[in-house]
Amino acid sequence: MFHEELKPFPEHFLWGSASAAYQVEGAWDSDGKGLSVWDIYAKLPGTTFKDSNGDVAADHYNRYKEDVALMAEMGLKAYRFSIAWARILPEGRGKVNEAGIRFYSDLIDELLSKGIEPVITLYHWDLPQALLDEYGGFESRRIADDFDEYARICFRSFGDRVRYWVSLNEQNIFIGFGYMTGMHPPGVKDKKRMLQANHNAFLANARAIRSFRELVPNGKIGPSFAYSPAYPRTSKPEDILASEDAEEILSHWWMDVYAWGTYPKAAMDLYRSQGIAPEVLPGDLELFREGKPDFMGLNYYQTTTYEANPLDGVGEKLEMNTTGEKGTSKSTGIPGVYRTSANDYLERTNWDWTIDPEGLRVALRRITGRYNLPVLITENGLGEYDKLTGDDKVHDDYRIGYLKAHILACREAVTDGVELLGYCTWSFTDLLSWLNGYQKRYGFVYINREETDLKDLRRVRKDSFHWYRRVIESNGEEL
Ligand code: NOJ
Repeated sequence: MFHEELKPFPEHFLWGSASAAYQVEGAWDSDGKGLSVWDIYAKLPGTTFKDSNGDVAADHYNRYKEDVALMAEMGLKAYRFSIAWARILPEGRGKVNEAGIRFYSDLIDELLSKGIEPVITLYHWDLPQALLDEYGGFESRRIADDFDEYARICFRSFGDRVRYWVSLNEQNIFIGFGYMTGMHPPGVKDKKRMLQANHNAFLANARAIRSFRELVPNGKIGPSFAYSPAYPRTSKPEDILASEDAEEILSHWWMDVYAWGTYPKAAMDLYRSQGIAPEVLPGDLELFREGKPDFMGLNYYQTTTYEANPLDGVGEKLEMNTTGEKGTSKSTGIPGVYRTSANDYLERTNWDWTIDPEGLRVALRRITGRYNLPVLITENGLGEYDKLTGDDKVHDDYRIGYLKAHILACREAVTDGVELLGYCTWSFTDLLSWLNGYQKRYGFVYINREETDLKDLRRVRKDSFHWYRRVIESNGEEL
């Protein structure tokens, strides 16, 4: 649809930016924090770029006041951050670490004192290692009890001050990478186990949302989903079907459960015929329906293009070119169903991700049309090799161009009728990319460090910092 005139962004729109505990905090063993699966996994040889890890990261744990002061200078309206479960419960359950509660409580107060809305992510991939050791983490239904206990502690401790919450961040990615491609902890490659761990994650998600209704009745909560809308390669009906199948298997499989409490039928039939469908116990789907979110959190980076896949075609692999860290142009897919293909109309980043602002509008419209839920964009951004110049600046005009085009797509979607609550860029400061270390930078604020060289961790405002300040000030009118 072409609009002659665009609607303004809503009043009180959440102009934000995001991060995650393991990627920024550092202080991996300070003040009683327990170990997470990433503390262990990133130190196994060959798992990450140049063996980088989050031991120090951006040292946000010790420098949060300086970071919040920069957010305030920028005029940020919302800051999305995650809580490290093992800081609150070092063993994953049981004894609470009061120093962990204090850290997040102080961070929240600091944000509120500057008029910045905190948006808390409960789970951004750093599972307490103790729970993996004890019962296999997400492979056991017990994860739902422990996640619920942890969530309830957070709701009781911070729910009086925090209105917006994200339950699980990118369940499709941490489960897919953890249990199918084996690139994230626990490094398993088994689709049946992946589907069961995923089902258990849904249980955890729904239990936490149910507790949220009781403990934070006026708040809003939803999952953040890594959505890469599927496009057909051509208008050949076989390609259209392939892209619809990809949409169902790679996206509806998650979003339908969040929004409706049901798994999509064709995908479930496929998995049943392969003997790998998850075990769904009586009461599970009812629980999912009780755990319906207030909004869909959307992490958007790119679209993926599909074509028909002959039965002897490309073997099955979980798609990794959604928001995963390692770009790949190799085709992946399910024989007889779909396979990925190039899209001649789209440019790609240095990490081989497509650049498609229009695709963000497609994503927003599809979510609205299918689920009729408000959307909070919980992540969108560009990972690049930024360079600090001699005059202590970073001229990241490519990032400004990228964000500008995506914000314009949001405004078009708002004009289309999408109820958009906010837009959080990924990320505020530079931070650790799970598999790609510190060379891949996303922030408005440059952190002076490399993989193993901490340098001085100095914060430097990039050109995009000043640009986003003006965007916020004008409520998105000045791009
Ligand atoms: C997805 C994840 O939520 C985040 O942790 C990651 O670093 C970014 N997107 C970029 O890949």
